[in-house]
Amino acid sequence: MRTLFWDNDSHELRMIDQRRLPAALEVVSLHTCTETAEAIRNMTVRGAPAIGASAAFGLALAAQESRAQSTAQFLLDLETAAALLKASRLTAVNLAWAVDRVLRVVHAATGSVDDLRTLVLAEAQRIADEDVAINKRMGEHGSVLIDDGDTLLHHCNTGALAVVDWGTALGVVRTAHEQGKRVHVLVDETRPRLQGSRLTAWELGHYGISYEIICDNMAGYFLRSGQVQKVLFGADRITANGDVANKIGTYMLALAAHDNGVPVYSVAPTSSIDLSLADGSLIPIEERDPDEVLGIQFHGERVAPEGAKARNPAFDVTPNRLITAIVTENGIVRPPFDVNLRENVGAGLVPAQGDHIIPNGDKDRPFKE
Ligand code: MRU
Repeated sequence: MRTLFWDNDSHELRMIDQRRLPAALEVVSLHTCTETAEAIRNMTVRGAPAIGASAAFGLALAAQESRAQSTAQFLLDLETAAALLKASRLTAVNLAWAVDRVLRVVHAATGSVDDLRTLVLAEAQRIADEDVAINKRMGEHGSVLIDDGDTLLHHCNTGALAVVDWGTALGVVRTAHEQGKRVHVLVDETRPRLQGSRLTAWELGHYGISYEIICDNMAGYFLRSGQVQKVLFGADRITANGDVANKIGTYMLALAAHDNGVPVYSVAPTSSIDLSLADGSLIPIEERDPDEVLGIQFHGERVAPEGAKARNPAFDVTPNRLITAIVTENGIVRPPFDVNLRENVGAGLVPAQGDHIIPNGDKDRPFKE
């Protein structure tokens, strides 16, 4: 089963509720664009490529909901839906990328309102299917960087749950594991939402990949004592100069890795690359509810005084000087990123040899139901 998929029988978007894992594997159904925007906002679905694909299907739901009699009105309805979806999360550029891609296709088309509805859904489905193929290609490219016996330190969740299927940084680990390389993953918890301990650990258990959970603030210890060969994470937005916005804590992790000469790899599809921004200082950083920081409990008790205030920026920016290489579906990009990233993104205009799309609900099943 994919992390999210369109149900052709019931005409609804179905997705794993990531807020429930690892306690329960539950699939929820979304019937409206508003429900989809809320699912993205409240992190029922999260991970940059996964929210991009979800938003594209959110537009398909908006198209289904529209009562427009004219194509002009239909396009207006879609624009309203697009604005709602784009506002649901700010930092990951994949969301706006996917929404704009669907809008572009519909604006360029002619035909009846029904024809346009069909087009919206087809484009959303294409984005989802392509995402799987892209992840597999990143896995192949990135696995070259992994050696037999490596211990890898991984941040946040970048596995199948963060995409439609397979994963970005964790997809690289999965590919290396499938190639027979023995790897061990130090999974950092990733406070405050704990995507590492809740989601990455759960996925690695399913794949039979060896792992141990560490607290985020243990990373420096493991890096300095020579127990980590590579640091891997994804990206929510990469700017033209190679600065990487990713889950909060990435910057500190990259600093500690750099100080200890441990290579730092960011794995992300080209849909996470925003060439319109010169550097990371221009990336909007989402600040979330302080309750995510304060609401956690230790042995059933509060961890902060009643009425305490907290800050909760959800992402930080790692400057390009701390990044050893960026892996995309088009290959491995090394510095100078301002030149090489642009070239790598451009390379995708030519379809890759042997690229194939894996249809919905196929043999590639990451999780048993
Ligand atoms: O807030 P999240 O869980 O959506 O943040 C996700 C991450 O930071 C991931 O590491 C990132 O999206 C890239 S990996 C697909």
